[in-house]
Amino acid sequence: MIRSKIAGTGKYVPENIMTNEGLTQYMQTSDEWIRERTGIQERRYADRTGETTTTMAIEAAKIAIERAGITKDDIDFIIFATLSPDYYFPGCGVLVQREMKMKEIGALDVRNQCSGFVYALSIGDQFIRTGTYKNILVIGSEKHSFGLDFSTRGRNVSVIFGDGAGAVILQPATNENQGILSTHLHSDGESAEVLAMFNPGTHANHWNGGQTLADFNQSSPVGDMFFSHEMIEKAQVYPNMDGPAVFKKAIVKFPEVIHEALNKNGYTPADLNLLVPHQANLRISQFVQQQLGLRDDQVFNNIQKYGNTTAASIPIALCEAWEQGKVKENDLVCLAAFGSGFTWASALIRW
Ligand SMILES: CC(C)(COP(=O)(O)OP(=O)(O)OC[C@H]1O[C@@H](n2cnc3c(N)ncnc32)[C@H](O)[C@@H]1OP(=O)(O)O)[C@@H](O)C(=O)NCCC(=O)NCCS
Repeated sequence: MIRSKIAGTGKYVPENIMTNEGLTQYMQTSDEWIRERTGIQERRYADRTGETTTTMAIEAAKIAIERAGITKDDIDFIIFATLSPDYYFPGCGVLVQREMKMKEIGALDVRNQCSGFVYALSIGDQFIRTGTYKNILVIGSEKHSFGLDFSTRGRNVSVIFGDGAGAVILQPATNENQGILSTHLHSDGESAEVLAMFNPGTHANHWNGGQTLADFNQSSPVGDMFFSHEMIEKAQVYPNMDGPAVFKKAIVKFPEVIHEALNKNGYTPADLNLLVPHQANLRISQFVQQQLGLRDDQVFNNIQKYGNTTAASIPIALCEAWEQGKVKENDLVCLAAFGSGFTWASALIRW
């Protein structure tokens, strides 16, 4: 059976740096609070009108394509993971196809938030294994800065997230020992609302007993329930997060899904050359490192510079690790993610 391998990686982060200190002009927070709780020192924000989730993705994709030694005309499928798409629909995949002037290939958008990239990678892996495609562009990209509440009310969420994009090219492996060994995907929707952005959406407060339905304009039976003035007035258009609940679940599921990938392939944590965890929070990564008994050089973190870039965090980190010579041929590399849904996932790769 032909495995898939990552033949090229690319990343793009906007030039504009927002430091913790910089955030204090909008909300009551402090560099000390943010560093202590999350490890984040600064993050990047996309240009307000000049950059979108898709334009950043294209910059990352161009680098990945060049490093894979192919051209955009060789790409036969696009998989795009994001929670901050340019449009509610259609997804960003088709915008990449159009803007990069690619052939009329398939373009799929994945909505799995922080584990979106590992889910996307897993889908691409299946298409390579079945021999359907030969060059798949897998992207994770986010422009969070456009949809955060920068008042003190939203500070528990806003200080964590940053913008950026990462991309990889998947190809059939040429060496039988090389490539993505296995991927592992999980979900538990019990806590779907613990980390969520509810609006715009069709929920009509269904999950909440429908109490506020009367607040909607009854003369317009459906139109303004999807998106209303009231939602804006009540600040119901921002992400919602119970941070401590996310933290508690993440520190259980991260180690679990990493062990699952290692066990499946007959390895132990000591065999890992590099773990590239989703950059959720430095404290979560440190806890996972400790649980698995990994040395500092076995775990890659860059959340300090970029914050949590959700679906983009793993491909950005993987690309940066590769650029720094921390991912070399034959290395055993594990990607692992946890996030909204909850969903969590891992991929074990022999590079
Ligand atoms: C979000 C997170 C950093 C908050 O840290 P915490 O220690 O749990 O803090 P709490 O939410 O309990 O809030 C503690 C206090 O800090 C305040 N606070 C919240 N955000 C703040 C900020 N940015 N600056 C200053 N104070 C803040 C709260 O209002 C609260 O004040 P109170 O005690 O007066 O009510 C932490 O829960 C976390 O990292 N969770 C995981 C989140 C995550 O990884 N999300 C992405 C998943 S992929």
